[in-house]
Amino acid sequence: MRKIRKAVLPVAGLGTRVLPATKAIPKEMMPVVDRPALQYVVDEAREAGIEHIVFVTGRNKGAIEDYFDRAYELEATLQMKKKFDILERLQNELPIAGSTSFVRQQTPLGLGHAIWCARDVIGDEPFAVLLPDVLVKSEPGCLAQMIKTYEETGGNIIAVDRIPKEETDKYGVIAPKSQNGRVFEMNGMVEKPAPADAPSNLKITGRYILQPEIFAFLELQEPGAGNEIQLTDAMAKLMEVSQFHALEYEGQDYDCGSKLGYFEAVCAYAIDHAEIGDGARALLKKMGQEA
Ligand code: G1P
Repeated sequence: MRKIRKAVLPVAGLGTRVLPATKAIPKEMMPVVDRPALQYVVDEAREAGIEHIVFVTGRNKGAIEDYFDRAYELEATLQMKKKFDILERLQNELPIAGSTSFVRQQTPLGLGHAIWCARDVIGDEPFAVLLPDVLVKSEPGCLAQMIKTYEETGGNIIAVDRIPKEETDKYGVIAPKSQNGRVFEMNGMVEKPAPADAPSNLKITGRYILQPEIFAFLELQEPGAGNEIQLTDAMAKLMEVSQFHALEYEGQDYDCGSKLGYFEAVCAYAIDHAEIGDGARALLKKMGQEA
């Protein structure tokens, strides 16, 4: 079985749901306490053993490349001011040289098209996809849980979790066939079905392990829901010829692409934060009583 070494993080989206905050900064760089949302997703990938990250970027996303580079002026100033703690932290969080790639999605044609843009860098090996809009808080991380399952099953794996039936039109939804513990075999999957047509209330969470054969399906994929080239549609076709499982992972996900989801993520990471955790918990309690 081939090891999962590379991950694709699509970061080309416009962030329209949180405008005007995302007019001049990429939505992936919005802070969750003291780190950009994207850093948590990169950490999840690294924890799962990922060695190389391919960012699929677009226009106005230069801040992401700068964030994963050294900032000599800033580092020199911190050194001069003897702020060694933060300096060390900046240096530790820097990816090792050569372990990131940036490819451009020139036209926003959909998630499926964004993943296809990474095909040359991924090459002929299985890989992970993490959607940075979604933060998953869990121990171990969601991708690490998926890799554990992959080591038993091989093939393709998607993470799923349960949602209220009336929300199925916001997500990809799977049609489960059978269940073994937290692992499902599937009959199919569909992107953003109306609640009445949804085959289950198990949504695709935004974490995937895919075989490289997906690229051939993506290349031919016609636009689907929202008139976009959908990853879910290409996966549904791949499923007919390649092994596919869904894992109901253990943890909590936060949709940082929405205002309320982002707010919830900030609160969740704040109450667990080493420096401000106690203060954040007390503050939220007080605000809850007053609201
Ligand atoms: C994407 C996927 C969808 C998945 C969702 C998770 O949708 O297409 O299958 O359920 O992410 O957040 P998007 O949020 O880009 O519309």
